[in-house]
Amino acid sequence: MNESSYVYVCAAFSAIGGLLFGYDIGVISGILTMSHFREKFPSGLAKEGSIVSSLLAGCFFGALISGYFADKIGRKFSILGASIVFIVGSVLQATATTFIQLYFGRVVAGISIGILSMIVPLYQSEISPKEIRGRLISFQQWSITIGLAISFWINYATEKFDSSAQWRIPLWIQNVPALILAFGMSFLPFSPRWLVCSDRDEEAITVLAKLRAGGDRTAEAVQKEYTEIKDNVRFEREFAAKNYSELIKKGPENIRKRVLLGIFIQIFQQLNGINAIMYFAPQIYNNAGIDLSTGINGFVNILATVPAILWVDRWGRRATLISGSMLMGASMLIIGSILAIDGTKYFDSTLGKNFIKLDNKASSLAVTIFIYISVASFAYSWGPTRWIYPAEIYPLRIRGKALSITTAFNWLFNFVLGQIVPILLNSTYIIFGIFSIIMAIFVHIFYPETKGNSLEEMDSIFGNIHPNNITISRQHYPSSSNESVHVGQQRENLRDLERGIPEEEEEDIYLST
Ligand code: BGC
Repeated sequence: MNESSYVYVCAAFSAIGGLLFGYDIGVISGILTMSHFREKFPSGLAKEGSIVSSLLAGCFFGALISGYFADKIGRKFSILGASIVFIVGSVLQATATTFIQLYFGRVVAGISIGILSMIVPLYQSEISPKEIRGRLISFQQWSITIGLAISFWINYATEKFDSSAQWRIPLWIQNVPALILAFGMSFLPFSPRWLVCSDRDEEAITVLAKLRAGGDRTAEAVQKEYTEIKDNVRFEREFAAKNYSELIKKGPENIRKRVLLGIFIQIFQQLNGINAIMYFAPQIYNNAGIDLSTGINGFVNILATVPAILWVDRWGRRATLISGSMLMGASMLIIGSILAIDGTKYFDSTLGKNFIKLDNKASSLAVTIFIYISVASFAYSWGPTRWIYPAEIYPLRIRGKALSITTAFNWLFNFVLGQIVPILLNSTYIIFGIFSIIMAIFVHIFYPETKGNSLEEMDSIFGNIHPNNITISRQHYPSSSNESVHVGQQRENLRDLERGIPEEEEEDIYLST
């Protein structure tokens, strides 16, 4: 296997974590309406709500603790461990005979999903060459969409059974990808960056050699990347303590701003209203007579993620996010306006839910089309990019911790919107439309472009560092390129800033280096 196919295999395989995430979330929304499930767990709205929110609570908690595991036992073993936890949670759910067991199973599976949702993109970002990092992290979102779609069709097939197999089978099935992930992860390499951070440099070089050069440890690309990582780790050890308090410090690397950017990208990707479409669109459709809409949405979602995989590294993060927000915003505003003009909201007391009735055929067709457009707009843009961006903007020493906090915000807002959307229903589409437009402006003003830069070069994009090209020799291996030297110089500049050396003196120092 050549180097590029190996890194693809590693990134794609770890993305099975995303599939578990999409599948489990999708499966439960289908199961809730199945007759045998409702018979076994006679549910009121409150119970239904808590079956969904117990998973989200687990996810939130899982994301929060994932930073600790990512650093302590490493990215690879955290993914492996989380898939075993997932199996425990999923067996508890599939065999549930009481509500308590079901809730417990949901929380346990949620913890695993929370951990995976943070560590998989982290792992992918750390094994990827910078030129295709966006593409490889997009695999995470792609497999979420595949998981969501598979769950829909499996629920669709098993709901015909006239026994508890109706809902137990879909839950048993999710153990298959989890087992494959747990087993396969043991053959995947460790993150080279985590290895260097854990002083396992020889192994790091071997992994880099496999990922970049078909096993050739002396290849220039391998040596250069190792040098860059090593330099980065050394600098970080000297420069700052590894703890959570760092996340709120500004410092010359602008950590606080970077954490806020990560948090807001996760919040925004919920505020653009994708889940109002993914989970609540059927409450519009039910009265427009298009039954399989969720299934079709699933296909649109999978297909429209492909352009991100192909081109996000060419388009860049900013253009992708801004264009996606504009398209989603426009679609949401159109959907919201049609619903406001033609839709009638009513409460179905048997199902305990709000519905929107759209009698006019043209309006119903227009809403359908714009729902697909907004799913597609999300799928190529915010879906993948909100995993990519946070996974690439933090310094190694705090990457795990920062990413765990930002990912937890995704789950928090997922939960919050899950509470609000069903109550407001039609008016939320207008609100989401407005948010999407605001997001485009926000990204334009505050989010720097990151494509094509190595993880070690992010400090120069976000930090208050003078770009400087003067060469110094802090390399561990000779390299013909100036790039790693440039990073080394930036580190020096950061040290000077930290020591409070005034600007004029800094200039002198640069010049005399
Ligand atoms: C989001 C989910 C959303 C899904 C749609 C995921 O990245 O976290 O909330 O339903 O994308 O594909």
